[in-house]
Amino acid sequence: MSFDRSLKIAPSILAADFADFGREVRAVEAEGADWIHIDVMDGHFVPNLTFGPPMVKALRRHVRTVMDVHLMIAPVDPYIDAYADAGADILTAHFEAGPHTHRTLQAIRGAGMRAGLALNPGTSVEVAAPLLDLCDLVCVMTVNPGFGGQRFIHSQVSQIARLREMIGDRPIHIEVDGGVDATTAPLVAAAGADVLVAGSAVFRGGSVDDPSPYGTNIRAIRGG
Ligand code: DX5
Ligand code: ZN
Repeated sequence: MSFDRSLKIAPSILAADFADFGREVRAVEAEGADWIHIDVMDGHFVPNLTFGPPMVKALRRHVRTVMDVHLMIAPVDPYIDAYADAGADILTAHFEAGPHTHRTLQAIRGAGMRAGLALNPGTSVEVAAPLLDLCDLVCVMTVNPGFGGQRFIHSQVSQIARLREMIGDRPIHIEVDGGVDATTAPLVAAAGADVLVAGSAVFRGGSVDDPSPYGTNIRAIRGG
């Protein structure tokens, strides 16, 4: 995985057909997805539950682009090796998931993955300053994590711009997750984000049997 700051669209399979993830991944990649975003929720750190390492491992052979795994779980550290074994390219943990984020980011890199740090809307991006040199990606949440289809929190745009200043020319992606659609994407891209996660705005209107709306939606989010 080489680093570049071009705009990337990362469909979240949270909005895909849970009984058909393999075909959904292949369909959305064929329609132009740059990365595949996989939301892991534990019913504890967030009030929703999805799946764990066996599902992520099963998805690995369907993902040809980048497997971007967003952990909304606490604790994180006991599961890092399982996600490395599952084949995650990027493993993102929340700042709010525990007291030892610095150690967690080190452990993710130590297990051979790229390390991501996610920040809830209630967390100032300033907390990332001492952690940036351990990060390959910072994910700014533009909804409170746990569910797809929520409304974009506009006050996060200035936090993205501040993070962009803090990062400077370091090779660190800025990812934005939650409520991203064709209307909000230009705002976050202008503020400095390069990875746009989108669930409902990508999968709406299409299906594995009729995937062309996925492509139309991705192009609309990318800006035509
Ligand atoms: C929210 C997840 C997101 C979610 C985004 O907790 O982390 O990745 O799937 O969904 P939309 O794009 O529908 O807001
Ligand atoms: Zn996510």
